[in-house]
Amino acid sequence: MAEHIIVVGKGGVGKSTTSANLAAALAEAGHRVVLIGYDPRWSATATLRGTSPLLPVPEWQNGDVVPHYAVGFKGALCIEAGELTIEGETSRSAELLYHPLLVRHRPNFIVHDVAWEPGASFLLPPASEGVPRLLVVTSGDMTSINVVNELFSWLNTVASSNCRFSGVVINNLKGPLYESIISDFVSRTGTVVMASVPHSVMVSVSDFYNQTLIEAAPWSHNAYAYRKLARQIEDSAVVPRPVYLNGEELANWARKWGEIISELETGVVRDGSSI
Ligand SMILES: Nc1ncnc2c1ncn2[C@@H]1O[C@H](COP(=O)(O)OP(=O)(O)O)[C@@H](O)[C@H]1O
Ligand SMILES: [Mg+2]
Repeated sequence: MAEHIIVVGKGGVGKSTTSANLAAALAEAGHRVVLIGYDPRWSATATLRGTSPLLPVPEWQNGDVVPHYAVGFKGALCIEAGELTIEGETSRSAELLYHPLLVRHRPNFIVHDVAWEPGASFLLPPASEGVPRLLVVTSGDMTSINVVNELFSWLNTVASSNCRFSGVVINNLKGPLYESIISDFVSRTGTVVMASVPHSVMVSVSDFYNQTLIEAAPWSHNAYAYRKLARQIEDSAVVPRPVYLNGEELANWARKWGEIISELETGVVRDGSSI
């Protein structure tokens, strides 16, 4: 049975970059991989499918809206299913998993690049598919940390029994300060950082080439970070389930970091004496 990895986080934090590179690293390691994107702009699989054109999934018998597919890097099956998740069509995305195209592919891993924040309409795979794993992507800013906290809340309530946790990926890191901020938040919630991926101009290069970093820049620091992430996913690394912070706890935590950052920026410590 395939392992389902559900990649979530605020819009723009790097979910598609993470999903495609994780899928590429798993495929490079010899796994049979499917990457499913749920963004109607078909952006999720662009780097993994490269120059292979997206074609309508054949023999689609689940309504007029047809998902598209291509075979990409190392035989990875790329599917764009964004149209299936627009309002009223949510349930159709589950039908994909039983389509002959996917079944014949016999995937070990299905990576779901979910254009999704808590409260939106993505459905977890049906229980017959086993318990999926949630991988949360964030950058260093407070708005994406807020979404992480909401996802942790969702994981402890709605998805407390039908979803496992695979850790946090910090993406687009612009320096050690931001790594400290997120690491502190993650340890405050009792869990762990799975991967730290720096900001890199090579990500744009790979976007322009329509290739993942694994393909376009195989020796880059970021490619190694994705291979390491893939190994932890392969090994089903045990990750502590996070708690979430209530409004007051989150505000206190954020204020502490606001003070630290302004002290660093201004060189003035809280009691007024300069450093
Ligand atoms: N580590 C990184 N370094 C530099 N640019 C990045 C990095 N990760 C993502 N990006 C860029 O940020 C933008 C948003 O990334 P994307 O993966 O599409 O986010 P999401 O899928 O969460 O909306 C893209 O233009 C991508 O190239
Ligand atoms: Mg995306």
